[in-house]
Amino acid sequence: MLPSNSSMVRSAARLLRTWRPGCVWCPCRNISLKPGGSRPKTLPQRYLGQPSPFTHPHLIKHGEVTPGLTQTEFELRRLRLASLIEAQADRLGPSASSSTHVVVLLSHPTRYMTNDIPYPFHQNQDFLYLSGILEPDSALVLYGTGRPDQAILFVPRRDPSRELWDGPRSGKDGAAALTGIERVHCTEELGLVLKSLKGTVLWYDSSLPAHPRLHQAHVGPLLDEGPMPHSLRPLIHSLRAVKSSAEVALMQEAGRISAQAFRRTMAMCRGDVDEAVIFAKFDFENRIHGANFLAYPPVVAGGNRANTLHYINNNQIIKDGEMVLLDGGCEYFGYVSDITRTWPVNGKFSPAQAELYEAVLEVQRSCLSMCSPGVSLDHIYSSMLALLGRQLRRLGVVKASSSEADVLKAARRYCPHHIGHYLGMDVHDTPELSRSQPLQPGMAITIEPGLYIAEDNDQVPKRFRGLGIRIEDDVVIRDEGGALILSSDAPKTIADVEKACAQR
Ligand code: GLY
Ligand code: MN
Ligand code: MN
Repeated sequence: MLPSNSSMVRSAARLLRTWRPGCVWCPCRNISLKPGGSRPKTLPQRYLGQPSPFTHPHLIKHGEVTPGLTQTEFELRRLRLASLIEAQADRLGPSASSSTHVVVLLSHPTRYMTNDIPYPFHQNQDFLYLSGILEPDSALVLYGTGRPDQAILFVPRRDPSRELWDGPRSGKDGAAALTGIERVHCTEELGLVLKSLKGTVLWYDSSLPAHPRLHQAHVGPLLDEGPMPHSLRPLIHSLRAVKSSAEVALMQEAGRISAQAFRRTMAMCRGDVDEAVIFAKFDFENRIHGANFLAYPPVVAGGNRANTLHYINNNQIIKDGEMVLLDGGCEYFGYVSDITRTWPVNGKFSPAQAELYEAVLEVQRSCLSMCSPGVSLDHIYSSMLALLGRQLRRLGVVKASSSEADVLKAARRYCPHHIGHYLGMDVHDTPELSRSQPLQPGMAITIEPGLYIAEDNDQVPKRFRGLGIRIEDDVVIRDEGGALILSSDAPKTIADVEKACAQR
């Protein structure tokens, strides 16, 4: 049974009570759910184009659109976007606030690995964030005078001849019942509906269309006729950046699954080991414990290969006595983890490995302790450089007599990447958001300092050459109780790592 309207409004009110003042999602921005009004239809009890409570009761509950995320949550997201656009419209001039605003978001198309063989489908996250639809060839339109708070969904028409090959589609009735969006059309009607809305202010990301065919056939004519559309991505990313409690719960699960996978992968390593075997073990442990798939090709880099930051060949033998750097994470119903650990494959840190590892760990701990509201990622990055510089001086990698500027330069050289990035539906999440912006409660980030010393670098003490170490955790900013570390189950201290490696 679907929850009643009144219980939905009550749960929305509960959600709204948790928003913090100053948050971009603040209810003071005129967000209200439709009181009463008919919720569309009960769910068809057949297979849809994505999990439904009837066909996948082990994954998704009644009232949810995707596992863990309710119709109310998706409706609030759309209303928050409408509020952001309304606020922008005020700035665009008096005519904009009385104009019809039309927002267009396209799904991804199916992509093909080779003739007729599709890759596993991955949805456009901005479209998914606002619709919950997991099918390709779909679209979402929001419209309204001054405030685009009316939704129209477009999904592929049911087609037995295609469904024989690709599997069931939700169809209009399934998509309406699953999402709670009352007005649903077939995708081929997108252009016609857009024409009928006569939008005078268009919000659409035209530079890199998510679905080139739908863009050309349905949105193109609108673009030819009107002024340049306004970009949506920065607005949606500002919403996506602050996670709700339901999103944090999904990220916690992604972090927990991957952290356990690290523990079990460490336990498997003995003496000489193939990077490909470590990759396979990590992949297996993530999937068998509930992950949908790995969130990105992992880095499984033995020895000096850890100094190639984007090494993903993962096909060399790691020798007894060398370390492996594993940067991996999983996707769990639309939310990801991104964790790095570095450990000796024989299970015992050598003195030089331990020395460099402790230096990175100390910096990582200090950076984690800075994760609080008001601080920016860029600020933590500057601190990381200063802290790494101090460690490099202590370890004799830079001369004690070096100037502060030279020490910082060395820190940048031996750690050429930033302290971290936003995390969420994507690994490098919400790239539209500047890293100079103060962190807010609900934001998720990574903290991932490293030190990379190439084996052919004859300017550093010999014992450190060929070592590359990164330690990466996933963190949710909270305003009370300190930051929530989502990857805390992944062994990290030397004692815990050696203990995990000693497990069978
Ligand atoms: N795994 C990619 C990153 O850590 O940014
Ligand atoms: Mn990362
Ligand atoms: Mn990573």
